[in-house]
This record gives sequence, structure tokens and C-alpha cells, in this order.
Amino acid sequence: MAIEKPVTILAISSYHKGHDFLKEAKRQGARVLFLTSQSLQDAEWPRESIDEIYFMPDNKKEWYMPDVIKAVSFLARKEKLDKIVALDDFDVEKAASIREHLRIPGMGESQARFFRDKLAMRMRAKDAGIPVPEFIGVFNHDDLNKFASVVPFPFMVKPRMQAGSIGMKKVNSPMEMWDVINAAAEMQSFYLVERFIPGIVCHVDTIMYEGKVKFVVASEYGLPPLEVAHQGRVFTSRNVLRDTELESELFTLNEKVLSSLGLQTGVSHTEFIKAADGSLYFLETSARVGGAHISDLVEAATGVNLWAEWAKIESLPKGKKYSAPKSKKNYAALLNSLAKQQWPDMSGYNAPEVFLKMNREYHVGLILQSNKYEKISEYLETYTNRFYNDFFTFVPMADKPTN
Ligand SMILES: Nc1ncnc2c1ncn2[C@@H]1O[C@H](COP(=O)(O)OP(=O)(O)O)[C@@H](O)[C@H]1O
Ligand SMILES: [Mg+2]
Repeated sequence: MAIEKPVTILAISSYHKGHDFLKEAKRQGARVLFLTSQSLQDAEWPRESIDEIYFMPDNKKEWYMPDVIKAVSFLARKEKLDKIVALDDFDVEKAASIREHLRIPGMGESQARFFRDKLAMRMRAKDAGIPVPEFIGVFNHDDLNKFASVVPFPFMVKPRMQAGSIGMKKVNSPMEMWDVINAAAEMQSFYLVERFIPGIVCHVDTIMYEGKVKFVVASEYGLPPLEVAHQGRVFTSRNVLRDTELESELFTLNEKVLSSLGLQTGVSHTEFIKAADGSLYFLETSARVGGAHISDLVEAATGVNLWAEWAKIESLPKGKKYSAPKSKKNYAALLNSLAKQQWPDMSGYNAPEVFLKMNREYHVGLILQSNKYEKISEYLETYTNRFYNDFFTFVPMADKPTN
């Protein structure tokens, strides 16, 4: 019997994340090559699951892409790279350029745009008939003035390719809008302007395989991420009540977003705003696992680890098909905050619903799990209040990313 040749994966992460992906890829028998930032050389990586690790100079800044292309091409002289996988949002376009250069299958550069560039995703979604906030690219100043004269304020002025609410400004008048645009100077074309829709921000986390949704779960943030990031709040999220109109509308829109933007195979974290009148607007999508412990939230609710499933898909030997895991129907909630204590004491958080406690310096977080939505909701509220009393602190965020 012929021995199956293992798939060689080059995973890329300029950020410290993706352990479960690397571990599962190895467990599945893939050859795991990993490219990360020099500044993360001493970070705790699951080295036993990585066949070879490489570092790109970063000086805590973006990698220099022409060098990345040369470095990976050099590696390709001796390794046959089957898959290039971007573990963090900022790596999606890097992976796409490498694929384009080495002619490796997967998402190419123009495809990746729809999952990174908030203007590109808005335009494509709108063309597909998906409701989006009114928006405009920061290109032509007459057009911007016209937009500001017909669309009611407030607006968001947001970078097209950031994450984590970085560099976003809410503006209330044309003057404020122009102040923000002018401050961006020669970088203004890298922004878009859109109408601010007050509401609840929902997220839908998905596994796609060959153009089909294989797994999906919908949740909603306790407070809009913008408020959490800019004003300082405890970050929370909880699954949406199952078999409700909201859940089914989120699933339908999510599928429409992913198919019209063209995600064939992989994972996605997609966000929607639920406005006061209940209508949903597409906020943004991505081709990666959601950050901020959302994968833990999903795992607590469903038993499915998104990182591991993604690794299984990418490690599939030629000719083998992915079969999605059975998803449990529990409910989960997530709480997360900066802590004033270096090592916060969570010993008082002992409800049977506590599924996971997160232990990180100056951070505090936990995941709740139950088969009852009401239980989760009750503890989410109590524990959020207790977090404010026991641990909460806030450091105003920088306008620009620091990593
Ligand atoms: N048009 C909008 N209307 C209302 N809130 C918005 C809008 N755009 C962004 N926000 C707020 O800003 C947060 C971050 O915006 P988002 O587009 O999701 O970018 P990212 O999460 O990549 O930083 C959202 O979760 C939401 O709270
Ligand atoms: Mg977002």
C-alpha cells in the first residue's frame, strides 16, 4: 500500500496565537512549518508540534513584504509547500501574496481583499443585496461633501485594513469628519467613512468547506466592541438564543456574505449590527478565527475547537474529504477584562457554570457554560458586575497598533 505523503503547511503568524492550529496540524500528520516575527522568538510556541520555525525581522513593526517573498521562495527550494495558512488577520494578505508568487492554491490577493479591506467587503456585499451602512471611500472630496450633506450623522471614519477598533473615530459633523480625514494626510485613501448605526453587535463564527457552511454559531457582544476598546468596559459575549428569528436571520445573512465574498474553505468570524428596529446590517468579515477568546466561547457552547477543525481541513491529504464534527447545543458566555492586579485572584468565581478561567498577567477572564440560556445570562450579569468591582481597569488605547 502506498504511504500517503503528508501535506506540508506553512503557517504564518506575526502575532502570538494559533497554538491549537499548530498542534492539531501536527497531530493530523502534516509537516508543520511556521513563520513568525523575530520579536516573538522567545514566546511560548508549541515547539513539539512545529517541524521548523522561521523568524522575520520586525523591530515590532510590519514585516517587509519583498523580503518575506524572497525568504519563503528560498524555503521553497527545499520544501514543497502545499498550503499557506494565515493565523492572524494581519497575515491574510501576506499569505495571499506568497500564494500568488509561488502559485500555491488558496485565496489570492484580490480574493483576500474582500476579507481584509473594509471598503472592498462593503462594496461587494452591497452589490449582493446585503444591507450595509451607507458608506464611501475617502477618495474624492466633492463626493465626500455630497455624502455628508445627504446621509445623517454620526459617521465612523475607519481604517480600511486595521482590527480591534484601532484608529476609528466617531464623528458628529462635517467639520469633525474633515478634521479626522485631514489628520490622516497622505494616508486618507486608506480610510472609509460610513454611517454609524447604533445597536447590538453580533458575531457569527463559521467553518466553510468547499463553498458550504459546515458549522456555524451566532453570538452577541454585551456592549459594542468600539465602546469596550475606546471607553474601557468589560468585554463580554454570549451565544444567541437558538432557533429564534434572530439566529436564523444571522445564519442566512452570514451565508450570503461568505458566498458573495467568495470564502470557499476555511474559517470566518463575521460581524453584524442589530439596529434598534431589529434589522441587521453587515459590519465586517474575516477569514480567520475570531480573537479575544471567541474560539473558547465557541468550544464551550458546541464542543468544537475552530482552530483544530481548521487545522484538520488544511492537513487533509489529497483526495480525502473533511467531515464536520457533531456540534453540541449548550450555551456559553465570555467575560474578559484588563485587571488592576498582576495575578488576579479568581477563587471566588465558583459557580458550576464556570467552564474555564483565564490566567494571564494583568488580565482576567472566564467562560461560562450551561445547557440553559437563562443560567448563562444570569451569571453573565452577576459576574460582569463583580469584575468591575474586583478587577477592572482601563488603559486608553493608542490610535495606532503597537505590534
Ligand atoms: N457603522 C458603524 N455603526 C456602528 N458601530 C460601528 C460601525 N462601524 C464600527 N462600529 C463599531 O466599531 C467596532 C469596530 O468596528 P469594525 O468595523 O468591526 O472593525 P474592527 O473590529 O476590525 O476594528 C464595532 O464592533 C462597532 O462597535
Ligand atoms: Mg470588528
